[in-house]
Amino acid sequence: MGAGRRAAENDGMNPGERIAVLTAGGDCPGLNAVIRAVTVGSLGAGREVVGIRNGWHGLMENETTPLDRDAVRGILNRGGTILGTSRRDPYIHGEGRSTIQPTLDQHDIGALIVIGGDGTLRTATRLSDEGVQVVGVPKTIDNDIGGTDVTFGFHTAVQIATDAIDRLTTTAESHNRIMLLEVMGRTAGWIAATAGMAGGADMILVPEVPYDLDDVAAALRRRHDGGAPYSLVVVAEGVDPPPGASVPDEREDAFGFSRLGGVSYAIAPILEELTGYEARVTVLGYIQRGGTPSAFDRVLGTRLGLRAAELACDGARGVMVALKGESIGAVPIADACRHPRPLDRSVYDAAAAFFA
Ligand code: F6P
Repeated sequence: MGAGRRAAENDGMNPGERIAVLTAGGDCPGLNAVIRAVTVGSLGAGREVVGIRNGWHGLMENETTPLDRDAVRGILNRGGTILGTSRRDPYIHGEGRSTIQPTLDQHDIGALIVIGGDGTLRTATRLSDEGVQVVGVPKTIDNDIGGTDVTFGFHTAVQIATDAIDRLTTTAESHNRIMLLEVMGRTAGWIAATAGMAGGADMILVPEVPYDLDDVAAALRRRHDGGAPYSLVVVAEGVDPPPGASVPDEREDAFGFSRLGGVSYAIAPILEELTGYEARVTVLGYIQRGGTPSAFDRVLGTRLGLRAAELACDGARGVMVALKGESIGAVPIADACRHPRPLDRSVYDAAAAFFA
């Protein structure tokens, strides 16, 4: 028994034997690599593993599944999450720790490994403050979580968006059109700037950099008038709508995050009118999150999952695993939740050197 666990038992907190793992919030390529690594790592440390179904919902409603070596065989390259996910939350839809305690007790769960984005990790922090032994694993295609250099899923999403740019470029070129590709990212422009740079975009609109459509249109018009047969504009879903245009969807999810997507439909007609060139929109949407993870995300997910298992089995609490340079370290989970990590301006500037 590790020193950390002995200490936890002496504190009278969660002296359970098993390690539980859940995935909550939006899914993301690489989740199954983490689940597999958490399972193999925990089993290797002599601990049984319980999978929690559909995120916090499973802990609230006692929906679990045992995870052994066979249960996680063949999932490394699969997208989605074998455990399922949801946006239910024990504080929003329940009473916090007391709502999940019966499931923790019934399954003899000592430590909880939570794989999630900022909303999920905020909930994990609150549970940790209430005495639950929690280890977090940051997850999102948006790459906007603090405390880690990069999140798994981002690399896959960037590759998918880059492939889309390549494809859109050839059809745009055939028609001398302005092509807008809208990508995910919420309030951060990581996917837009990185895929835009990789695809040679002629303009990239991100939430972190204010834009003026007159300036954008002038640059694109110069480009077409000068002989370029197309323009490729990447738009991050979280940019402000043009003045006077309304937000496409005013609903929020359970964590209070706006439902984004579709702002490009307000931008395209304005660019068309200002430039005199036809503009078309593609909203890439959930394609960015689905399907097989890249090799990078499988490796990152595996390394994060193994480290999370090690920390959980050793009694660590209130920490999140993180990539720092080439190493996997641990930081307080609270670091991840303070505020979204905005796009590094130097990434945008590098892409902008090639605009129009
Ligand atoms: O945070 C990841 C993400 O894919 C965002 O890029 C996107 O805005 C959001 O989730 C969509 O969430 P939902 O699955 O609730 O529609």
